[in-house]
This record gives sequence, C-alpha cells and structure tokens, in this order.
Amino acid sequence: MERRPIGIFDSGVGGLTVLKAIRDRFPDEDFIYFGDTARVPYGTKSERTIIRYSLENARLLRKFNVKLIVVACNTSSSYALDILEKEMDVPVLGVVKPGASAAVKATKTGNIGVIGTEATIKSGAYRREILTINPFLKIFEKPCPLFVPLIEEGWLEDEITYMVAERYLSEFKNKNIDTLVLGCTHYPLLKNVIGKVCNNIKLVDSAEETALETGKIINKVKCTGKGEVRILVSDMSNRFKKIAEMIMGDSFSIEEVSVDVC
Ligand code: SIN
Repeated sequence: MERRPIGIFDSGVGGLTVLKAIRDRFPDEDFIYFGDTARVPYGTKSERTIIRYSLENARLLRKFNVKLIVVACNTSSSYALDILEKEMDVPVLGVVKPGASAAVKATKTGNIGVIGTEATIKSGAYRREILTINPFLKIFEKPCPLFVPLIEEGWLEDEITYMVAERYLSEFKNKNIDTLVLGCTHYPLLKNVIGKVCNNIKLVDSAEETALETGKIINKVKCTGKGEVRILVSDMSNRFKKIAEMIMGDSFSIEEVSVDVC
C-alpha cells in the first residue's frame, strides 16, 4: 500500500505540541507539518481571513498527498473546520472537539474555565462543544491575546509572562473551577507558568485526545521503523527552530515554503 503522510497545520509553533502527541503514539507514520509563521497570529484576525488562511494551508498540505489533515490550531478549528471538511477529499480533524471532550472527562466540580485567542473565545466553539456533551456544566471563558506573541518570542518562563498570566487568570480563582482548557495549541508551552498561577486546577489541552482521534481515522502504516517528520514554515526563524528542537528533539527536517498554491 502507498505510504502517505499525516498533514498537520497551525499558525506557528503551537501545533507542534499536537504533532508531538500524535508522533509519540504513531512513530512509524510520516508527518508533514506546516507552521504559518509569516502570518501568525491568527487569533486577532477576522473570520474571513482565518478561513482564507486555513484553506490555503490545507491546500498546501494536500499537495503532499496527505491522508489526513489535522487542524492543530484552535482558531482555524473554530472557524474553518466545516469548510475544510467540505473542500478536502481527505478526512479533516480539528482540535476543539477533542479538547472539549477531555475537559468534560476531567471536571468534578462542573465548573470549567476556557482560555484561547480572541477569535476562538468569540466564536463560542468550546462552549458549544462542552455543552453539547453536558449541558449542565458551567463555563467561564477568557481571551488571552498576549500569550501567543510571548510564546512565539520564546518567553516561556519570563517574568513578564508570569505577570501577564497573573493579570489574565486571577479572575478564575474565585470561580470554583477545577479544570482549565488551554484552548490554543500554543498554550501548552506555558504549562509551567499557567500551572503556577492556577495551582490546583487541572490543565487540559487537546493534544492527547487529538492523537487518540487520529488513531481512529487513519489507515496505519504496516511497516516498522521511524517515520519522517518534515516541518514547513512560511517564514524561517531561529526562534522557531529552537522551540521545534525543544519539543521534537532533533528528529525532523525543516524548510521554508510559500503558501501561494491557490
Ligand atoms: C494564533 O495563531 O493566534 C493561535 C493559534 C491557535 O488558536 O491555536
């Protein structure tokens, strides 16, 4: 049988947390990851632009004969998933549903916090998905727009990052929340900071649950031996390479590509 890679895209480095989780589970698979580093962040863009970028990214991945497209960007998943599903001739998997389902499994108090980009929170995508699973849960949402630029800058443990996190997240402290959804694939890179600010609150991200869903969709490769990880970016930077190495080790190749495939 023909060997086809799994395609994954995000606006930047954040989706690498999803790539890592899927690769850990399916090391024999080949992967093509596209990080749209030239146009990050998506979370402050309009719906129209988010949809256009998402379509362009999916079309780019499709050129590599991928067998599945994982939309490892919450902002794209919130606005463009239906459209991508209609346009693509391969399965498309978003990260919002898996993240919502992980949060519902985790909560005991029934009070769930959700943080994400401005666009993701405005879309109400997490609220909808969580309440579809259990309409009796209470949801508290908060956009955290400065987190993505701080992460893309590589300031994962910086004093400023702690101050920003404190400012955004302190309002959750008196809400009896026991679960906080990291509704942006960049945010797991701030797990230390967010965990210290929100201690005793379980942090949930969609990476593991998305990896489980991936396993239900793909025809797994039949051979053994490590698959290839090829990372494409629309703008190459040393910062991106450093974070990619931190997440993926040295088991990948990286190259700059242009998204103008439409
Ligand atoms: C962004 O590009 O603003 C963040 C990506 C995400 O929503 O996961």
